Amino acid sequence: MPETIPELPSSPVPGLIPTLNNTGWMTESLDRLSQDFAAYAGGIRGESLDIGCAYGIATLAALEQGARVLAADLDARHLEILAGRTPAEHRGRLRTQVASLPDVDFAPGRFGAILAARVLHFLPPAGVTLTLYKMFQWLEPGGRLYVVCDSPYVGPWRDAAPEYERRKSQGCPWPGLVIDYHRYLPEQARAASPTFIHPMDPDVLRRACGQLGFEVLEAAWLEGGTRYRSPRDHAGVVARRPG
Ligand SMILES: C[S@@+](CC[C@H](N)C(=O)[O-])C[C@H]1O[C@@H](n2cnc3c(N)ncnc32)[C@H](O)[C@@H]1O
Repeated sequence: MPETIPELPSSPVPGLIPTLNNTGWMTESLDRLSQDFAAYAGGIRGESLDIGCAYGIATLAALEQGARVLAADLDARHLEILAGRTPAEHRGRLRTQVASLPDVDFAPGRFGAILAARVLHFLPPAGVTLTLYKMFQWLEPGGRLYVVCDSPYVGPWRDAAPEYERRKSQGCPWPGLVIDYHRYLPEQARAASPTFIHPMDPDVLRRACGQLGFEVLEAAWLEGGTRYRSPRDHAGVVARRPG
């Protein structure tokens, strides 16, 4: 019997592919910082990590540019689809691993670059801090971290943006946290969705990285990749482990 290669699920939304585990969607086009990650990873000798990679939009772009990539995700089915989508000439530079943030551990100094694109907003503040702390250790000195999160202005939780803005004006360190996420979802979507969501802005990412010893190279709002895109769909940071 010929081996069946699992395929990308079909999508009702142009520009987005649904995940298989109700953790949102993978974009079909790369935001600006994920493009920068792919180019940077392609230019270094060491291995790079793409965590929360889903079906590997950024991993495939990095492999295309010569990178060695460890693609990691919570869901093994996403990684199987990624492996099936990877052109044969790049497969020798791809490894995959099921991994859950913030619990996963890698050896210190293991990666030259790390991308976490649109995954950290599934973690509460303590989980974000622990993940960034670990990522600092996983990077070699001089290595680069690229983080992209969904912002308070996108997704079903955008109705909570006025509350985010109120908390931010009062100096709250994690003003985007939505602890009653189900309130913003239609009833039929609630059972399969996370109970909270933690969108972030560029100031939050800059502060969180800076406090852990990263040198922050850039923190910015980013436009999404769908036809509904707006200039503040995502928040991103590029940070460097000094060394
Ligand atoms: C919204 S998708 C983002 C996919 C892709 N990086 C992008 O930017 O389009 C989130 C992905 O992160 C994974 N994920 C969610 N929570 C995670 C966690 N705690 N640890 C590792 N991966 C996680 C999901 O399985 C899913 O594939």
